[in-house]
Amino acid sequence: MTTDNSSLQLEKIVPQADDFLPLLGTDYVELYVGNAKQAAHYYQSAWGFQPLAYAGLETGLDDRVSYVLVQDKIRLVLTSPLKKGGDINRHIEAHGDGVKVVALWVDDATKSYKETTSRGAESYMEPKTVKDSNGEVVLSGIHTYGETVHIFVERKNYNGVFLPGYQAWNPEYKPESVGLKFIDHMVGNVGWNEMNKWCEFYAKVMGFAQLISFDDEDISTEYTALMSKVMSNGNGRIKFPINEPADGRKRSQIEEYIDFYNGAGVQHIALATDNIIETVTALKERGVEFLYVPESYYDTVLDRVGKIDEDLAPLKELGILIDRDDEGYLLQLFTKPVLDRPTMFFEIIQRKGAQSFGKGNFKALFEAIEREQEMRGTL
Ligand SMILES: [Fe+2]
Repeated sequence: MTTDNSSLQLEKIVPQADDFLPLLGTDYVELYVGNAKQAAHYYQSAWGFQPLAYAGLETGLDDRVSYVLVQDKIRLVLTSPLKKGGDINRHIEAHGDGVKVVALWVDDATKSYKETTSRGAESYMEPKTVKDSNGEVVLSGIHTYGETVHIFVERKNYNGVFLPGYQAWNPEYKPESVGLKFIDHMVGNVGWNEMNKWCEFYAKVMGFAQLISFDDEDISTEYTALMSKVMSNGNGRIKFPINEPADGRKRSQIEEYIDFYNGAGVQHIALATDNIIETVTALKERGVEFLYVPESYYDTVLDRVGKIDEDLAPLKELGILIDRDDEGYLLQLFTKPVLDRPTMFFEIIQRKGAQSFGKGNFKALFEAIEREQEMRGTL
């Protein structure tokens, strides 16, 4: 647990961004799930997350249980209800398993709340201090798209394992890490014509600036289309691309998501590695399923992206996609949805200089996604 942020340099790399909401990084991502115990086992066994903390009946809760898992800087919280009724059950009924909280690490959660709510954010949680024998944490929260929320976490006076109320969770079963390092970006899907509204929200309420824009000419195949803009905070540690559906001949993957999730929500979490070949090899061995990439993609890819450090053969074998921008290149690939509803998935990404998001791969990717949709009969 990192609690000392005094030495952190918050270097501004996105000059257009405002400074009123300094964000130190992603603190944790919380999913509301139907069966947290089994989900925790999945993220341990398939994804190499390590057990960190637990809260439930044994710690004095009577209505919910949460498991906290960690891999390097990535913290996942998996929460399930223990009783009928209540917000968590209602969330699961509406959305299936999905991301409820994108928690952001801040130096001052009270100021973060004031800066954002005074600019129009809807309050989710007024600033509150929670304590235990390891110190205190200040939490506050605001609503974002759909039923998703941001919680601001101020933990500079806390030395416990996660948050007050949690105890260390230390089971014997600890499969090895797969080398995932940090959250590179988290993508939100929003409804028709809502992309600009939510980009403006991140600009006005949180001081973010737009990095790159695509339009539906850029990202479309014969059947489906979307529009996407990438919003970033000033130091570039928090990047939130926002997608909306665009008109295509058939239902786009964004529409499919919105239909099954019953509204806007987190579409994918991109996890960074510094050795994508090793990471993806390990994930595949453990049963994680990735989107199929046609072999023909590799016939022409080097003409498009130029020279890369890696041999092409293992990239082709694993279905890893390659893209290049002015600053370098990146390697990425996408899992199939990790839930029964075709909603959330993960991206694995290794950046080798490139700061973009794989625009050149989108057409190849979408053609792959459409093959999957066709099999589900939802195209
Ligand atoms: Fe992505």
